[in-house]
Amino acid sequence: MSDRKPEAGGGALPEGANIRVADHPLIKHKLTLMRRKEASTFEFRTLLHELATLLGYEALRDLPLTTIDIETPLTAMEAPILSGKKLCFVSVLRAGDGLLGAMLDLVPSARVGQVGLFRDEKTLQPHKYFLKVPHSLDQRVIVVLDPMLATGNSAVAAVAEIKKAGGLDIRFVCVVAAPEGLRNFTEAHPDVPVTTAAIDDHLNEVGYIVPGLGDAGDRLFGTK
Ligand code: URA
Repeated sequence: MSDRKPEAGGGALPEGANIRVADHPLIKHKLTLMRRKEASTFEFRTLLHELATLLGYEALRDLPLTTIDIETPLTAMEAPILSGKKLCFVSVLRAGDGLLGAMLDLVPSARVGQVGLFRDEKTLQPHKYFLKVPHSLDQRVIVVLDPMLATGNSAVAAVAEIKKAGGLDIRFVCVVAAPEGLRNFTEAHPDVPVTTAAIDDHLNEVGYIVPGLGDAGDRLFGTK
């Protein structure tokens, strides 16, 4: 995994920004299949689920471990186990739901939150219409999920809402990021690491990532 990619989309990413590009060949391969405009809704959804497993694995790489005493059929041993830190996955509606199932496969005991934001198509600014998160957010490792980090405005607002609700240990997982969105996000939330499968070239004039993969929500749910 590389820490960040060279600059793209006009201008360098902030120095020291905590951006991890998960560039495993399987991730690259699956992302290419998903980007194809002829990928069916089923293919897109399945590939997004598979990618989320791989990205979740990377994003949770630093989860704290402790040890317990166990007995294998052969001997006693001290074996590593997650340290009991509670997790919370927060889906940014609606496309974040495409990443959620795979994250829950990885950590079935995690709690789930949702943030609903709609984007004003003129200003590209997000407006919150829904927020539901579990209690004790301050004690949880929180992973915010949204496949597309485009302008970054929704991600910035979603994480701000989660911080307002008490979240402290937050990370963000997306599939495709635009350099403009990464700059916006890491400037607003320098404490929140971002894991992405790719940093694309730029945003177009209506805020879509280019080359991107189109509208992730529509492609996931077949609504277009
Ligand atoms: N949201 C999407 O689903 N796709 C983009 O390219 C930008 C925002």
